[in-house]
Amino acid sequence: MQISDRIESTLIEVLRRARLEPAPPKLAAALNYSVFPGGARVRPQLALSVSIACGDDNPNLSNSAAVAIELIHCASLIHDDLPCFDDANVRRGKPSVHKAFDEPIAVLSGDALIMIAFEILGISSEAHPHRLPPLIAALGRSGGMPFGICSGQGWESEPSINLSAYHQLKTGSLFVAATHMGAIAAGEDPEPWEELGARIGEAFQVADDVRDALEVSKEIGKPTGQDLAKNRPNAVTELGLGGAIEKLQDILSGAISSIPSCQGEADLCEIVRKQAALLTPINFKKQNL
Ligand code: IPE
Ligand code: IPE
Ligand code: MG
Ligand code: MG
Repeated sequence: MQISDRIESTLIEVLRRARLEPAPPKLAAALNYSVFPGGARVRPQLALSVSIACGDDNPNLSNSAAVAIELIHCASLIHDDLPCFDDANVRRGKPSVHKAFDEPIAVLSGDALIMIAFEILGISSEAHPHRLPPLIAALGRSGGMPFGICSGQGWESEPSINLSAYHQLKTGSLFVAATHMGAIAAGEDPEPWEELGARIGEAFQVADDVRDALEVSKEIGKPTGQDLAKNRPNAVTELGLGGAIEKLQDILSGAISSIPSCQGEADLCEIVRKQAALLTPINFKKQNL
């Protein structure tokens, strides 16, 4: 089965179970709405690619680890769009969850997805129970404090933020969890996979900053110009457009050379190269470079 089919079919099954009786209908609908149709599913694809590169000896657990990461990501987007954070009305090309439903439903949807993410790790780890503690630790660390998404989002309430630390916490942490958890789910040591996750995460956020600054809202299905409007640190403001794109390319070439030697190394290099090509915004307003 293709990586994307494994992710979608696992998500469908997990969301089907979450919506069974006695689930309240509105919250059940909002859960589905926030997960389908998905965005690029970059994080679970990275996690599964690493599991496959490591031998993928327990596909069920690898699928669940990948999907747990995507659920935390979806939860973070729902909360990030709320009026008390970015107050964004559009996400993935449609009304954000608090607009399509209401704020209590949006808060609860995010909370529920976070809990379900941990639940599915527990359900799927029977065959290899010793892999469960490091999976839980990696996922918790990536979303929480002081190294995770909460920490990154929390820095927005401080008077000044260091750009690279902010990126690492709010975005990089989940990419590191993706490579770590992909390795752990396949029974491998996560440590050699740290750099790959960190580099892809950093590149991803720089690319997102470039898209935000270039205002290609229609193409990305969410509001743009937000960093400037909300005075958030952004790679383009800090380095200029050319500098940001140069940084992006540097990080991505380092990502490919950081891939540890493993049985699926060549395939994984190819996946990262393709991802890098997608992230590099060569077609955007070349005249500005
Ligand atoms: C958006 O992430 C939030 C950032 C960290 C920039 P994605 O661009 O991966 O969002 P989806 O899942 O594809 O919609
Ligand atoms: C979102 O960061 C990262 C999260 C932790 C959700 P942004 O606020 O910059 O991302 P977008 O532009 O809303 O996707
Ligand atoms: Mg935000
Ligand atoms: Mg936002």
